[in-house]
Amino acid sequence: MKFNARAHSNFALVKYWGKRPGASPDLNLPAVGSVSLTVAALATETTVEFADGLIRDEVELLDETGTPVDNLAAIERVVAHLDRVRAMASETRNARVRSQNDFPMGAGLASSASAFAALTLAAARSAGLNLDRSAASRLARRGSGSAARSLFGGFVEMQCGVQPDGSDASAMRLADPKHWDLNVVIAITDASAKAVGSTQGMIDSEQSAFFGAWVEKHDDDVKAMKQAIQTKDFDRLADITEHSCLKMHATMFTNKPGLIYWNPATLEAIHAVRALRAKGTPVCFTVDAGPQVKAICPAEHADSVANALGALPGVERVIKSTIGYDALVAAA
Ligand code: DP6
Repeated sequence: MKFNARAHSNFALVKYWGKRPGASPDLNLPAVGSVSLTVAALATETTVEFADGLIRDEVELLDETGTPVDNLAAIERVVAHLDRVRAMASETRNARVRSQNDFPMGAGLASSASAFAALTLAAARSAGLNLDRSAASRLARRGSGSAARSLFGGFVEMQCGVQPDGSDASAMRLADPKHWDLNVVIAITDASAKAVGSTQGMIDSEQSAFFGAWVEKHDDDVKAMKQAIQTKDFDRLADITEHSCLKMHATMFTNKPGLIYWNPATLEAIHAVRALRAKGTPVCFTVDAGPQVKAICPAEHADSVANALGALPGVERVIKSTIGYDALVAAA
């Protein structure tokens, strides 16, 4: 049968950056846990059908304009994930996959998170697997670590786990989207695909002299963030979010050679967010493996934050988003 799934992207407030030392790359185990917000405005929709008569997997990836994306590495990554599903379901047939993002891919907007969450749900159902959310999250993690979080809406925690087989490395919901009416304002400063993807970027960062300190202090940030979410303490959430983001980028800057995803407009937007906060607007920033700045604020401040960021030189466009809901799957 053919199944269609839709998953939202997510942005980490406490970042995942680094792989568990010595673990199999296929298990894709994170070195640290993470806490994220699911982003309603960015989504991937994927249809999968395992069918007789296909001599190989037929994978069609479409960008937000519906144009096919010519990206062999991305297609190979999809096929590797289909292999995992086939192995779990004892499925021998090849699959037809059609996947469309409604936002730029590979530009630091967590397209692999929504893409592998949607692919996991659609492929698993199409292969006859009935996975619960936690099992689907573990499978999605093997496609992309951040995808484990995109199975869930709202505020989400990813646990790095300790088991060698990754059976305890999955995500879970911390709070429903309605728990706290926060918005994300995304300032796009360059929508083109980045030269170094996050998988490679984090592996390189493990060579940084700062990487050990990043891992060592990480649990404190996760614990504090969970409390900030529970008590809806925006100042605390803002402080930890910016701290985790800047620490992650510090491990990138201090690779050899240093990895710098930021451009001048990224820095302009960071300063603009800080200036707004200094003048009393509750808002903070985070930046992932790309040059876009994501500002997080209570919903009632989203318009003024979007106006301020949209007016900056170098900001190409601004996307405003509410908090997203769970990924969904249905027969197509
Ligand atoms: C900066 O999930 O893309 O967005 O597991 O290698 O696919 P892989 O990495 P990926 O890394 C996400 C890194 C980040 C931070 C985060 O989302 O936590």
